[in-house]
Amino acid sequence: MNKPAIYITRQLPESVIAPYRNILDIEMWSKSEQPVDASTLMDKAQQVDGLVTMLSDQVSSELLGTAKGLKAVANLAVGFDNIDLTSAEENEVVVTNTPDVLTETTADLTFALMLATARRIVEAADYVRNDEWKNWAPYLLAGTDVHHKTIGIVGMGRIGEAVAQRAKGFNMNILYHNRSRNTEAEQALQANYATFEELLIESDYVVCLAPYTEETHEMFNTQAFQKMKDTAIFINASRGKNVDEEALYDALVAKEIKAAGVDVYRQEPIRASHPLLSLDNVVALPHIGSSSEETRTAMIQLCLDNLIELFNGNVAKTPVTE
Ligand code: DGY
Repeated sequence: MNKPAIYITRQLPESVIAPYRNILDIEMWSKSEQPVDASTLMDKAQQVDGLVTMLSDQVSSELLGTAKGLKAVANLAVGFDNIDLTSAEENEVVVTNTPDVLTETTADLTFALMLATARRIVEAADYVRNDEWKNWAPYLLAGTDVHHKTIGIVGMGRIGEAVAQRAKGFNMNILYHNRSRNTEAEQALQANYATFEELLIESDYVVCLAPYTEETHEMFNTQAFQKMKDTAIFINASRGKNVDEEALYDALVAKEIKAAGVDVYRQEPIRASHPLLSLDNVVALPHIGSSSEETRTAMIQLCLDNLIELFNGNVAKTPVTE
């Protein structure tokens, strides 16, 4: 019997892929570090049973409508806003994502970004590296405390809970806002539900972990930043389109908020000319939330395991359900 054919849109380590070659007929995009181009993706989608896609690939209705043999798309991310889910359903293409395996790693990065922004870690490291350190001084690169402050988590899913767990260890007061109440987090983590407005007004750290949807589109806008404390630090580790970037820039320049730590952007990758990068009170990372070696390997394996389950006629381990 023929093995199901799949196409992987990035060059992934052969050591991780090799064990799957017995079961799947695997082709990978050949250029390291570079994303697949749209026309190759379109072509390949028409030739295979399954795709492994990256969050930077657009899996459009056009692609899904023309890829007649395509049965599944395994997205190497917990987010899936790059995939037209309605069209996938219409075309009977199953979509899977990679929740759980990346929760703790993404929470680590979110917390690291919060600490780095509050304690000016990047500025301080550059200061030493650039040979600017001439004297010790009482307020040299003085940052802001994290411990015992109030964190407001917008999006209390798995990653939000894992960030709250870390916040608890720092004796923080935990507020959260979510589509629905998360009573488990309320009990286990002493997290208190707040309206979006209450959270903005009361938090010292406002942390966006909400997935991107039509409802969350630019929810962090001029009005939202104006409601925050002028000492507040804003962190975005979910999706860039949740934020009006011009409004964020203006709020930072006008000192309506103190600083921002950003891992995700409206359009990625950003260039060094991006306005946010002109500000010292911004820590900017290149969308590395789940990027540890262990977790990326687990994510790749989960994508391939999902495809195998589906091709065996079973339910995928982690199908996307809306
Ligand atoms: C995801 O998996 O959606 C994250 O954004 C990756 O860091």
